[in-house]
Amino acid sequence: MAATEGQWLLMATGRTPTNIAVIKYWGKRDEALILPVNDSISVTLDPDHLSATTTVAVSPSFPSDRMWLNGKEISLLGGRFQSCLREIRKRARDFEDEEKGVKIKKEDWGKLHVHIASYNNFPTAAGLASSAAGLACFVFTLGKLMNVKEDYGELSSIARQGSGSACRSIYGGFVKWCMGEKDDGSDSIAVQLADETHWNDLVIIIAVVSSKQKETSSTSGMRDSVETSPLLQYRAQTVVPSRVLKMEEAIKNRDFESFAKLTCADSNQFHAVCLDTSPPIFYMNDTSHRIISLVEKWNHSEGTPQVAYTFDAGPNAVLIAQNRKTAAHLLQKLLYYFPPQDKDLSSYLVGDKSILGDAGVHSMEDVEALPPPPEMKVPDLKFKGDVSYFICSRLGAGPKVIADESQALIDSVTGLPK
Ligand code: DP6
Repeated sequence: MAATEGQWLLMATGRTPTNIAVIKYWGKRDEALILPVNDSISVTLDPDHLSATTTVAVSPSFPSDRMWLNGKEISLLGGRFQSCLREIRKRARDFEDEEKGVKIKKEDWGKLHVHIASYNNFPTAAGLASSAAGLACFVFTLGKLMNVKEDYGELSSIARQGSGSACRSIYGGFVKWCMGEKDDGSDSIAVQLADETHWNDLVIIIAVVSSKQKETSSTSGMRDSVETSPLLQYRAQTVVPSRVLKMEEAIKNRDFESFAKLTCADSNQFHAVCLDTSPPIFYMNDTSHRIISLVEKWNHSEGTPQVAYTFDAGPNAVLIAQNRKTAAHLLQKLLYYFPPQDKDLSSYLVGDKSILGDAGVHSMEDVEALPPPPEMKVPDLKFKGDVSYFICSRLGAGPKVIADESQALIDSVTGLPK
């Protein structure tokens, strides 16, 4: 296997976006293979704002597989990491780097150990789905290093075994995870419905909601729902199949009204399933409910949806506006109700900060001068401190290789995180 002589180290670095489901995945029919009870559809978010970057290094000098997440060593012994490692190693191919004098035969990859360093460009503590981007990046980058040539559908089915929602992060734009029928899960893969340029007026504003409560993990929450919620069965068998078809049509035709109605209805039904679980699971809090109410009232007063909302397994709101103009209006309303606790506006809205200019908000004085949204009955109520911060983003592209070795997270001499 080894290179001509001595020690060598090879590395690959990749960056993979996170995604947010507009038709939710909730419930597995197979826990080990991570096979879902229904199809789901997501939008991929701009990796500049929300993504994972991972470097995988291999060297004959590494005595074991090791991984660091955001600089801290974590165990790779979990079944999910092991499944992804095993599946990628199985598909590894011959590799040769003439410059470095390294030649690795297909069958030798299994004897070599890897060091993996990964980091998220958004705070993990924010409770934003980081596992989707992280596991997808793990699989994508490992596949690049080991010269895996399988198509993206196959890679998605490997990422799925790391975390269900991760399979959708293998593509940009709009993505569908087809639940599949086979027992071995080989047809439970993600497909791209449209790339990120197809409907690029959409603006995404995420409200990171302050919460002290430790939430039930998606994995155990959905297990409880499958075991106890009669609504989950009805949702999976009757509601989602037709909703998925309608959502695909809405995306194809850039029909915002249908897209928004389906997105909100599906988020609400997912949370209804959580409430229908025994014991009930509460992911949303009062702030989440206030944001829903604000959007619903605004949409109603305009006669047609301006903004869609969706919530995952936590209180954060993901708001999708039809275009920049509606996003700017939305931001004015949000800043009116949820003004920043301290005086620093620039850290209260991260991501695409230019939306502040569109909303005419340049300073705290501008925030204080915002008019009360007319559709609200008690307009003078404000909830300072209930939102930690906002992220303004858009749809984004799928995984990519970062060729510039200076951006690698692992030191090419020590083989350890930089
Ligand atoms: C509410 O993918 O985190 O975000 O497969 O057990 O790792 P595991 O669960 P995970 O669940 C995501 C649930 C969701 C909805 C969605 O992303 O579709």
